[in-house]
Order: sequence, then C-alpha cells, then structure tokens
Amino acid sequence: MNSVKKLQTDGKVYVEYPPKLRIAVQKAMDSWIAFCALPDNVKIKFPYTADKTVSGNGYELKTAHGEGLDRKEDFHLRLSAAENLLYHSRKIGTPQVDTFVRDALELPVLIEPVLAEFAKAVEREFNLPNFANDVAHSTPGLLLRFLHYFGGVAEGHEIASPHIDKGGFTMHLHESDTGVQQLRQSDRSWIPLPVSHTETVIFPSFGLQHKMLNQVKALCHRVVATTDSAVNGRFSVVCFVDFRNNKQYNKEKFGRLQDWPAGFNYDISREEMDKLFNS
Ligand SMILES: [Fe+2]
Repeated sequence: MNSVKKLQTDGKVYVEYPPKLRIAVQKAMDSWIAFCALPDNVKIKFPYTADKTVSGNGYELKTAHGEGLDRKEDFHLRLSAAENLLYHSRKIGTPQVDTFVRDALELPVLIEPVLAEFAKAVEREFNLPNFANDVAHSTPGLLLRFLHYFGGVAEGHEIASPHIDKGGFTMHLHESDTGVQQLRQSDRSWIPLPVSHTETVIFPSFGLQHKMLNQVKALCHRVVATTDSAVNGRFSVVCFVDFRNNKQYNKEKFGRLQDWPAGFNYDISREEMDKLFNS
C-alpha cells in the first residue's frame, strides 16, 4: 500500500488487490452484467428496501432525466441483509438473479483484510485511536453498490454528477471503462481517477473528513462518458464503508450531496461541517 498520507496530498490511496478478491469481483461483475441483461419486468420483481436515512438493499431502476439525476440501474447488498436478499432471489426463481446475489455476497469477507490493513495504517499515521477497531466491525454492514449506467449519451457527458460520498470511506473495486475523475484540491481541475487490476483505490467520504477534523477531505468525483461508455454503457462496483462511532451527514435536513457545488467541502471549516452532521 502507498502511504496513507497520500490521502492528504492526492485525495486517495492505492491499495494492493489480493488475487482472490480480484477473481471474486470479476465473477460477481460477470453475474451483474448477466443480471442487467434480463428484461426489466423480471429485474423490478426484486424489491428495494430502505428507510429515510440509510440507503437500502435490492434493485433500483432510475430512468429519470434531469439536473443531477443519473440514468442508471443499481443493486445494493450488505451481508447483514443476506437472508432477505437470498429469500427474494429464490422467490423470483430466475437463475441469473440467484447467481448474482450469491456471487456478490462472497465479497465482504474477502474485502475485510484489505480494510483492516488500511485502517491500521490510518490509525498509526494520523494518530487516530481505535480507528482499526471501529472499522473491524464494519464487515456485515459493508454496502456493495453494483452500478450500470446506460449507454446512448454523448461522449464527455457527465453520467454521474460531481459529488462526495456520504459514509466513512469508499473503495472502488471494478470499472468496465475509464471515465472516473476527481476534483483536485490544489487547482480545482478534473483529473483521471484510474482503477487498475493490481491495485484498487480508497478515498475518504464525508464521514471520515468529519471524524478526522478536516485532516483529510472527502474526494469530490464524477463519471464522464468515454467514446466507448457513451455507446455501450458502463458497469462498476464500489464498496462503501461505515465504521463504529461515525456520525452521519444529515441528508434529510441538508439534501443530497450531489446538490452541493463541486468541492464545497474542500474549504469548509470544522464548525460549518459539524452543523451538517447528526449529533
Ligand atoms: Fe461516488
């Protein structure tokens, strides 16, 4: 792993991708692509369960066009919801659905050691007591988000609007194409945020910026259509990590993070930031 101090200078850190995890991610991605190829009337049989404050589990189809709204389908899974997810996939009785859910649920325990190493390094290098311990309990609640952005857009189109993520930190596991960009802190320009096959990338979300009192900043990122993804669409999977004692951004009161100006959090004071979080 690169030094986690890179979180301050580069906004992200690359970590080694254990071969077993990479193979399992590839398998789950293949299953996700097969799931996406099913007719809409089969896919929407899979319910999405959520409450007001926490994103849920299951399948979502979002086809609305508009400012800050992305046309996509996604599937959220957590190990803590495995029983419920497997119940629904059995009930639907379509093999592609069941295979995808099973393959995806293999991932959290393989991700765990990567997170543990990252958390230990952050605890040590930033002098953040108990951080490794707080992250160690996160495995059942790890949120896997499988995404499919539809093709049929212009090259250069923003298929995911600029935003920071809401939870603790984010790990990008797979992208079918390039196109993720980060807003650089130093000059506010957009630069590529590549994901390779031998390394994966972790970057802070708003919860970690808040916990670390601005020592690191949540990374503002977006996705832009390339020549290929403009036509063929784009598949990806990310993992959102929350940890014990992590306060949450108050979305109910302050709205979607996509609706804030890009990079608003790079200069925010601790006091201003604190107001945006649930006490
Ligand atoms: Fe994101």
